[in-house]
Amino acid sequence: MSGLNHPPSKSVSTANQSIQPQSYHVNSLGHACIGDMDLTELARTYGTPLYVLDAETFRSMAQTYTSALTEHYPESSLVLYAAKAQMNMGICKLAESEGLGLDVVSGGELYTAIQAGFPLENVFFNGNNKSIDEIELALHHEIGRITVDNPDELALVHKVAQKKGVKAQVLLRVSPGIECHTHDYIKTGQLDSKFGFNLSDLGPVMERITGEYKETIELKGLHAHIGSQIFEVRPFDDLIETLLNIYYNIRENYNGLTLTDINLGGGLGVAYTSNDDPMNVEKTIAHIAERLVAYANNLKYPLPRLMMEPGRSMIANAGVTLYTLGSSKSVPGIRKYVAVDGGMGDNIRPALYQADYSAIVANKANRPFDETVTIAGKYCESGDILIKNLELPAVEPGDFLLVFGTGAYNYSMASNYNRVPRPAVVLIEESEAHLLVRRENYEHVAALDVIPSYLLNPEPKADPAVQ
Ligand code: LLP
Repeated sequence: MSGLNHPPSKSVSTANQSIQPQSYHVNSLGHACIGDMDLTELARTYGTPLYVLDAETFRSMAQTYTSALTEHYPESSLVLYAAKAQMNMGICKLAESEGLGLDVVSGGELYTAIQAGFPLENVFFNGNNKSIDEIELALHHEIGRITVDNPDELALVHKVAQKKGVKAQVLLRVSPGIECHTHDYIKTGQLDSKFGFNLSDLGPVMERITGEYKETIELKGLHAHIGSQIFEVRPFDDLIETLLNIYYNIRENYNGLTLTDINLGGGLGVAYTSNDDPMNVEKTIAHIAERLVAYANNLKYPLPRLMMEPGRSMIANAGVTLYTLGSSKSVPGIRKYVAVDGGMGDNIRPALYQADYSAIVANKANRPFDETVTIAGKYCESGDILIKNLELPAVEPGDFLLVFGTGAYNYSMASNYNRVPRPAVVLIEESEAHLLVRRENYEHVAALDVIPSYLLNPEPKADPAVQ
C-alpha cells in the first residue's frame, strides 16, 4: 500500500497541532488571555475551577474539516462533531452555525440536541447498546441515521420501526480489525472490541436486511471508528480499503445494492504537550479523500457521501481549565506538591489514561521558571495527580493555574466524586465571555437525593435491658 504515513510538513498548521487556543496570548500585565479576555479577570469573575472555550479555535477546526472535504472530495460530505468530546446546548448551536452535523451516543446527547433545536436530519446516533426508548426517540424525531452496532440492536431497531410503521435509515458499524497505536482504552477498531459487527458476521446480517427486515431497515452505508488520539494516517488507508471491499461485495452479492454513505469515524490526534506531533488535519483529510476516490474508482464504485466524526481534534485545543492554587507540600529530596481546587472530578484523564498536560500560571504567564512541582488535585485519592514535574515560576496560594488542551473529554467525563460540584463552562467569542453551563452548587449535588420516610422517623429500638 502506498501513501503518506505521516503527513509531515506543517507549513500552515491546524489548530489541533497547537497546545494553546488560537487566540491565546499574554497581555501587558503578563496575564494569559484568550481573545481580549484576561483569564485572571475571568477566574475572579466566574470562580474556579472553570472550563474556558475559545470559539475561534473550534470554528477554525470546523472550517478546516469542512473546507478540506469540500476541496478534496468531489462528492458530498458531512462533518459530524462527536458530541461526546464536550456537549451542551450552546456547543450544539456553535456546531450548527458552522454547518456541522452531530454524532450522539445516548438518549441524553440526543435530547440535548433536540432541546437546542439542532437540525435533526444531521444527527447520527452511535452506541453499542441502545435501549428501546433511545431508538424510539431517534425514530420519532426522524434523525439522520441510526448507526447500528450489532445483530441484537439491529433486531431491536427492526422491531421499533415495525411498531411505528417507519423505515429506519441505518449505517452498520463494523469492527474492521485495524490496529492503531494509541492507549488501549481508546482503541476501538481492533478485532477484540465491544464495538461493531464482526466482519465475519456480515453475511447473515445482510440476509436479514435484504429479507426479513426489508420493510423496516434501509441500509445506507457502513461506519467504522478505529480509535482516538491517532498520529498516523496508515490505519485510515487500511480502513478505506476494508470498507470499500465490503461495499463492492455487497453490490456483487445483493442484487446490485449500492451503499451511498461512508462514515470513517473520528480519531485524529491533538497536541497536549510538546512531545505530541499530531497530523495536520487539512493534509490528512486531503489524503483520506484522495485515497477514497482512488480506491472507489479502482473498484468502479460510485463515490459515497463521506462522513467524518471528529471530537477531540475539533475541541481539545479550544479548551483550557483555570484553577486556583492552594496548599503545597514538599517531600524533601522527592518532590513538591502544589494542590489546585479541582482535580480528577473535572479531569479524570491523567488518572484513567496517564494523560499528560501542559500548564502555566495565568497571572504570571511571562515569568521564568523557578521550580518543578507536581500538581495535585483536591480529591481524596492518591492517584488524583493532574500533572507531574511541571516547571513553574514561584507560586503562592491564590495564583491561577491554566491547564491547556482540556476541551475534549474533560467536562464531558466530569463527576461529582467527593460530592464536589462541577465547574462552569464559559465560551469566549468576540472578546466577550458567554456562560454555556452554570457552576453547580451544593444544592445541585444533593438535589436528587431521597431519604426514605422510614429513615426520617425511625421507630425507637426496644432496649432489651428494659424487657
Ligand atoms: N466516533 C465514534 C464512534 C467514537 O467512538 C468516537 C470516540 C469518536 C467518533 C470521536 O473520536 P475523537 O475524534 O474524539 O478521537 N474518553 C477518551 C476518548 C474516548 C473516545 C471514544 N470514542 C479520552 O478522554 O481520551
